[in-house]
Amino acid sequence: MLKYKIITYGCQMNVHQSEKIAGILNNLKFENTFSTENADIIVFNTCCIRDNAEQRAYGNIGALKPLKKQKRNLTVVVCGCMTQQDGAAEKLRAKFPFVNIILGTHNIDKIGDAITQYLQKKRPITLIEDTSRLCEGTPELRSSGTNAWIDIMYGCNNFCTYCIVPYVRGREISRPKNVIISDIKKALEDGFKEITLLGQNVNSYKDSTDNSDFASLLRDIDKISGKFRVRFMTSHPKDYNSEITDIIKNSDKICNNIHLPVQSGSNSVLKAMNRRYTKEKYLQIIDEIRAKIPDCGITSDIMIGFPGETDQDFYDTVDLVKKADFTNAFTFVYSVRQGTPAAKMIQVDPIIKQKRITELVKIQNEISAKQSLKAVGNVYEVLCEDFSEKGENLFCGRTDNGKLVTFEGTRDDIGKFLKIKIDSAHASALFGTKTEEHTDEKR
Ligand code: SAH
Ligand code: SF4
Ligand code: F3S
Repeated sequence: MLKYKIITYGCQMNVHQSEKIAGILNNLKFENTFSTENADIIVFNTCCIRDNAEQRAYGNIGALKPLKKQKRNLTVVVCGCMTQQDGAAEKLRAKFPFVNIILGTHNIDKIGDAITQYLQKKRPITLIEDTSRLCEGTPELRSSGTNAWIDIMYGCNNFCTYCIVPYVRGREISRPKNVIISDIKKALEDGFKEITLLGQNVNSYKDSTDNSDFASLLRDIDKISGKFRVRFMTSHPKDYNSEITDIIKNSDKICNNIHLPVQSGSNSVLKAMNRRYTKEKYLQIIDEIRAKIPDCGITSDIMIGFPGETDQDFYDTVDLVKKADFTNAFTFVYSVRQGTPAAKMIQVDPIIKQKRITELVKIQNEISAKQSLKAVGNVYEVLCEDFSEKGENLFCGRTDNGKLVTFEGTRDDIGKFLKIKIDSAHASALFGTKTEEHTDEKR
């Protein structure tokens, strides 16, 4: 039996795409392995959001050369966002002649056929089609424990001036609501306890059959019976609306947890980024969410060093970060993406970028730590997700509002909703103990 290994880079959407690749390869009776040496097929599911993601993939592909020399029958596949950039396939072929199959982001469903054909004919295959092509109906081998990722839409129409995603993933296409609902029901029947809805801008979801929007989708998901949680990512401030906050507030299933990337706190930078909201509008959304759902976990993405960012722009971002009081924020240094408008703008000095990111990370860490301290003494419902890497007999899970908690437990706790009392906080990590009361009864 042939063994395969998938190496995934990038966002949750890519992680989920790897679950589809695994589903297809398992249907072909190939077997998953975590060992590179034992693998007969190695799939690189790549990302190109920033230069370091791309360099990591290039480095790892390059590192296969000696193994490929030893093991002539090894099949090497490169797919994902990197391959969909202009000229990427040619560049990959020139740099790594030992790569056997190159597939575009919208050709994942053909990975089984491509591998079968390659194994028979041993001729290199490149298949990169238009991003308007849909890959629906692929089998999935879910690998994220208690959580099932569910795509609600593909692509992006926003063209933020720094971002490569619209070029490599194509235009926005929403999946029909009835298909999403039946996928969710299937995942729940299979025992998953948490559903995470995926899309680059979930707030602009529009069902092509009845034109219903994201709020309507959430309302229908909330009506599905059983005890489970729902999260969604990513929200875009320009399309986020109060109706969504109201549904979250009134639902036991939709978690009090919103990922709302702000990118910058400077209005001139936001304009140059084509984000289509202001710092004031963003803070107004946050204030409204907090007024309606006081314990809502709000996380964000923040980018430093966008072309033309001045010291004042940076301090506007710092000011926003302090006011927004995020539970957590992913901080990035702007990375030039060829083919995007920002690549042609005047760039910020790398030393200044480094100084700013260090300062920002320090400030956000202090905010996250303070937020964690506030949780000490409280009892939360936690969905036990997995073993914890922090030590023996330790397990981890999340509160409804997205805080990660580590506690002592048993293997049987995985997949259960437990009541956990928070005993201590170290930086943003929380540690707690199980209380007597369990809350895993069916609703
Ligand atoms: N669709 C989502 C997320 C897209 S990618 C959104 O609109 O927020 C995830 C994050 O990567 C972005 O939020 C942004 O902060 C970051 N990112 C995107 N392009 C980047 C670039 N060229 N350099 C650095 N960070 C980038
Ligand atoms: Fe990129 Fe902007 Fe689309 Fe997000 S909304 S994927 S940052 S273009
Ligand atoms: Fe995701 Fe990276 Fe592509 S963030 S959409 S895998 S460029």
